[in-house]
Formats: sequence, C-alpha cells, structure tokens
Amino acid sequence: MDDGTTSRFSAGVALTALLVAAERAIETRRPEGLIEDPYAEFFVRAAETPVPLPVSPDEVEGGAADPVWGRGQQYFALRTRVFDDFLQDCAHRDGIRQLVLLGAGLDTRALRLDWPVGCVVYEVDRSDLFAFKQDVLGAMGVRPAVGDHQVVADLESNWARRLRAAGFDPVRPTAWVIEGVIPYLPAPVERGLLATVSALSVPGSAIAYEILHAQDTAKIRENSLYGQTKQKMGVHLSGLFSDDTRPDSARALAETGWEVSEEPVHRFTEQYGRGPVPGVDDPIAYARWVLGRRTHRLYEG
Ligand SMILES: C[S@@+](CC[C@H](N)C(=O)[O-])C[C@H]1O[C@@H](n2cnc3c(N)ncnc32)[C@H](O)[C@@H]1O
Repeated sequence: MDDGTTSRFSAGVALTALLVAAERAIETRRPEGLIEDPYAEFFVRAAETPVPLPVSPDEVEGGAADPVWGRGQQYFALRTRVFDDFLQDCAHRDGIRQLVLLGAGLDTRALRLDWPVGCVVYEVDRSDLFAFKQDVLGAMGVRPAVGDHQVVADLESNWARRLRAAGFDPVRPTAWVIEGVIPYLPAPVERGLLATVSALSVPGSAIAYEILHAQDTAKIRENSLYGQTKQKMGVHLSGLFSDDTRPDSARALAETGWEVSEEPVHRFTEQYGRGPVPGVDDPIAYARWVLGRRTHRLYEG
C-alpha cells in the first residue's frame, strides 16, 4: 500500500514501525514511563509525515481517551517493557548470548539496553526499514552497538539462511522476539516461522511473541481503534493484517518441547502497575503475549 502518506518512509507494514516508535517516544517523555527510548523521537521527526505524529503526552489532544495515542500508547509502552525485561532476563539471568528480533523495526534495544559482554543481537527486517534506521542514527552520530547485526530478509522467504549467513549459530541457546509482526503474516507463514524458530532453538532457548485472537473477524477488523490509525497516520492497520484464521502456534510449540504461557495484556498491567485495563472491548482485549522456554527437543521421523 502506498497512499503517499509519508515522504521519507515507505508506507504499509514498515510504516507501522513508525507508529510504535511514536508510542515509545511518548512514553519516554513521561516522568514515570515504563521505558526510555531516546532514539524513538528522532525516527518520528525524520519521517516527516504530512500529519505530524505526537512525540510527547502534551501533543496528544484527547489525552488518555485517545484510542491510538492513549490506550494504544499504553499497550505499546507495556509491550516494549515486558519484552525488554524478557530479553534482559535471558541475557543476565539465564546466560543467553544470542538474541534475534524478527521484524525488529525501529526498535533500539541493541543500543539502549545493557548487554553482557559477548551478546550478539540480530535484527531481521526489510532493507528500506534498515536504510531509514541507519540514516537517522547516523545523522545523530550514533554508531552501531557492538554485536548488533542487521539482517535484511523477508520473513515470508528463507530468512533463516540469511540469519545463518550473518553469523547466527543454531548450536547456541537463543532468545527470540517476534513483536508486532505475526498479525500481518498469512497463517501458513506464521506456522512456518515458528517451526523454523523451533528448529533453530536448542534447549535453553527462549521466545516472546505477540498474537491477536479473532483478528480474522469483522468485530476486530472494524474496531474504531483501526479507523483512528487510518485517520491519524494514514495506515489502516487491520487492512494490513492477514485475514486467515490463526493457527494455535503456542500449542504447537508446547507439543515440541517448549514450556509456554499465553496471557492477556491486563495480566502484565497488574504486574507493572501501568498499562491497558480490562473491560474495554477493543483489539487490545484480544492480544496475547506468549512467553516460552525450550526445555527439551523432540526428534521426529
Ligand atoms: C509493527 S512493526 C514492529 C516493529 C518492532 N518489533 C517494534 O515493536 O517496534 C512490524 C515490523 O515488521 C516488519 N515486517 C513485517 N512483515 C515482514 C516481512 N514479511 N519480512 C520482514 N519484515 C517484516 C516491518 O518492516 C516492521 O518493521
């Protein structure tokens, strides 16, 4: 999709990365925010969208009542923090030194989090996304973090080959994050993606990812949250989603040697003391965050 919404950034799914960056920029400006991402605001400003995106709570007209920059913002801030903590636990507590972010977008964890010596972070995304990201960080004088590898690959093709060519070692335990990506993928691609992740994961590996139940239903796709993103950003998120019925990928992992939990977002709101509350019938109520650890491996056939 290219409706000319941005002059500096390709439209469609990559534009969704900018939405999340704006949500992170807003959170960074909150006095008691869940995260600090000093780079997010720079991505948003550099994208030069015709309708400027907010980068601080003061710039959100409707405040907390705004579906995209209010409740939606709470969602993305909490998701970032939960997945940050997941990765940091993997590195500092569990000793995992290889991290892979599939559909990394404008995430800057490689730069902004504290990594033990020897950690390697692989970010996988499309070439135009990385070109933009590097331009912005380069203009800020930011050098790539030690051990940060950007792997240009399409998650719908043989991304694993490119990941291995970049140095990924399937013999080492890995922490995987797939955040804000799966809803866009057709069901067979989701199945294949997680099967590949599983095949590349030795025991001791871990995974965190996000799914959206019932995303194929009109009830979810026509929710006003998505209408608002179209109005505010020029990108109709649910129009980019695959309308396939979703596979139960968490169960598939559980059946192949992973211990998996799949929980609603408000469970994390309770844990962190901030985030979307239950009782609102919008897509956030249908989002689930899946956290898993590989305990053993099943050899089949
Ligand atoms: C909503 S953004 C989320 C980015 C990041 N994980 C975050 O939370 O900030 C989705 C990202 O997935 C990437 N993506 C989606 N489909 C992809 C595909 N088939 N191959 C590679 N990257 C893809 C997009 O380019 C975009 O950067």
